Amino acid sequence: MKKSYEKLLANNKNWVTEQLVLDPQYFEKLSQGQTPEYLWIGCSDSRVPANTITGTDPGEMFVHRNIANMVVHSDMNMLSVLSYAVEVLKVKHIIVCGHYGCGGVLAAMGNQQIGLIDNWLRHIKDVYRYHHKELDAIENKEQRARRFVEVNVMEQVNDLGKTSIVQNAWKNKQPLHIHGWVYDLNDGIIKDLEVTFTCTKDLHKVYHLD
Ligand code: CO
Repeated sequence: MKKSYEKLLANNKNWVTEQLVLDPQYFEKLSQGQTPEYLWIGCSDSRVPANTITGTDPGEMFVHRNIANMVVHSDMNMLSVLSYAVEVLKVKHIIVCGHYGCGGVLAAMGNQQIGLIDNWLRHIKDVYRYHHKELDAIENKEQRARRFVEVNVMEQVNDLGKTSIVQNAWKNKQPLHIHGWVYDLNDGIIKDLEVTFTCTKDLHKVYHLD
């Protein structure tokens, strides 16, 4: 029986062949460096592949993904990606993209203990608590979950703005916009929540770093 992963390696060879037909210098050019304009912070969910749903090619997007597209300010992995993207690559846009039907967000709405991941979901539960008045008032559970996904993205946009990395970029007049988007698994459409942050003034003043 053929092992399922073998098809991935076969696909890769086919892809290389196709790219070289389109542009014989394709890999030579890409190997010289990257200048992506975007940093994508998305969910690890296999149904939300950053490049595919945005029609972007290799070299166009720097990507960080975790469960429920979280920006946890003590997460060294996220901070390292953010620092490199902003300070070295000088991306112009950071996109936090959540998605309706997010398993992490749904789990965070419930009370069942799952395991180690409960500690990660805690960060999402905190978002629920900040917005509990609005969320508790939504009777339909599915509608409530959809709104929870949206407010979670909004909080992560805020959390990015709070970082010293982003604030220093703004202080240095580096153009940097932070966007909040939600992808809908049901129709493939990305909704812009229009909660874009472009400068320190978009943050509550307690977070301002001079
Ligand atoms: Co998800």
